[in-house]
Amino acid sequence: SPSTDVHRPAFHLTPVATWMNDPNGLIRHDDVWHAFFQENPFGSTHANLSWGHAVSRDLATWENLPVALPCSETEQIFSGSAVHDAQNSSGLGAEGGPGPLVAIYTSAYAPDHATHPGIQAQSLAFSEDGGATWTYAADNPVLDRGSSDFRDPKVFLHAETGRWVMIAVEALDQKVMIHTSENLRDWELASEFAFPDIDGGVWECPDLVRVPGPDGDPVWVLILSTNPGGPAGGSGTWTLIGDFDGRTFTTSARPAPLDLGQDNYAAVSFSGVEGRPVILGWMNNWDYAQHTPTGPWRSSMTLPRELDVVPGADGRLELRGRLRVPAAIPAIDVSVPAEPGPVGEVRVPSTEPFLLQGTLRTDAAHRIVLRFGTEPAAPELVVEVDGEGSITLDRGAAHRQEFAPAFARSLPYQPAAPGDPVAFRLVVDRSTVELELEDGRAVISQQIFPGGGEVTLRVDPPR
Ligand code: FRU
Repeated sequence: SPSTDVHRPAFHLTPVATWMNDPNGLIRHDDVWHAFFQENPFGSTHANLSWGHAVSRDLATWENLPVALPCSETEQIFSGSAVHDAQNSSGLGAEGGPGPLVAIYTSAYAPDHATHPGIQAQSLAFSEDGGATWTYAADNPVLDRGSSDFRDPKVFLHAETGRWVMIAVEALDQKVMIHTSENLRDWELASEFAFPDIDGGVWECPDLVRVPGPDGDPVWVLILSTNPGGPAGGSGTWTLIGDFDGRTFTTSARPAPLDLGQDNYAAVSFSGVEGRPVILGWMNNWDYAQHTPTGPWRSSMTLPRELDVVPGADGRLELRGRLRVPAAIPAIDVSVPAEPGPVGEVRVPSTEPFLLQGTLRTDAAHRIVLRFGTEPAAPELVVEVDGEGSITLDRGAAHRQEFAPAFARSLPYQPAAPGDPVAFRLVVDRSTVELELEDGRAVISQQIFPGGGEVTLRVDPPR
């Protein structure tokens, strides 16, 4: 209905009329970006998990397609990944063909399943028509540890060893399990990775990505989601820079937040991309995801981000994630002063997506307020700069009705050089807000539900 659709973003992937969580099977193949995702084909809450499907030519607009991997009475199709098996190593494709697309997913078997009651194990499905239609492999599951919480396989081809690598989790044990294979069917355990500094209730949706580093050498980054124990509260995603030899991930770094906001979970990378990895996350938080005020569709993905690694403060390497902002979103250049008053350039209807870009001053405390509408109680989104120049996004008053009050504020961003101007890009696409700072040194992702109105911008004195 129109009253709820003021929340539906135009340039973020959303399900047509159902529930969505994690991105799955992200792959670029034959110039098409495929995003599969956890979908409940029958409702607006987390149940009947199947893989929904959408495609994009430009990573900006998405076309929703029919469910690709449907659940059954006794098996849900949990999160996983997809690869192009170009050599047909799995034997799932036709002989002499271009090689099948293979999806590697978690079979979450019900307690009354005939052969694997209550087990989570890894299974395969394949497509020989470029991802349009899928067939379950006959001998599923292909990797079963007899565990009730072994899930979220992310598979990639490791160039140096020529072997497939699967990174998955023992979710309750807080362990990443690394297996390797020649054929996507027979998997052997290569190593286990645990890390006491990443706490969290369950570990979920890991990825291991090869990111271009400062001197051209690749750097390996582990991406790991935890629920709870996310950086900004509730569920969230961590990154850890390290090294990977094809069997073992090692690190001497500290975990860093992928996002300083609350709404980025289960982020993983697209297969089939050379150079900088492109990731997509679920723009939600398990703490309140089933209660967001939209319907019958619920949840969106984040904007895609491109990763690289640069030298950071005190010589440590730092992961950056630059937003891929759709070219069709109109950009408004703003130079935000630190003195109180309206910022005249900004007057846009909030039902249209927009991008504000420019620099923030960090040499004096102030608040930058985006106001949605003109009435006295109009929703407001606040960028707060404190006396030390650190920047926080506060969505506490950015909704028509109270929403997630415990998760109003993002983590603060500490600029590279406190006091200096900070380059920013702020993308508002209806209910999604992404604030990118200093070329992706940080991004803050938050959902807001202002529900319409003209947007104006002003600078306020500090609180
Ligand atoms: C993460 C997660 C995954 C699981 C899927 C089920 O959000 O819990 O671990 O595979 O969602 O929908």
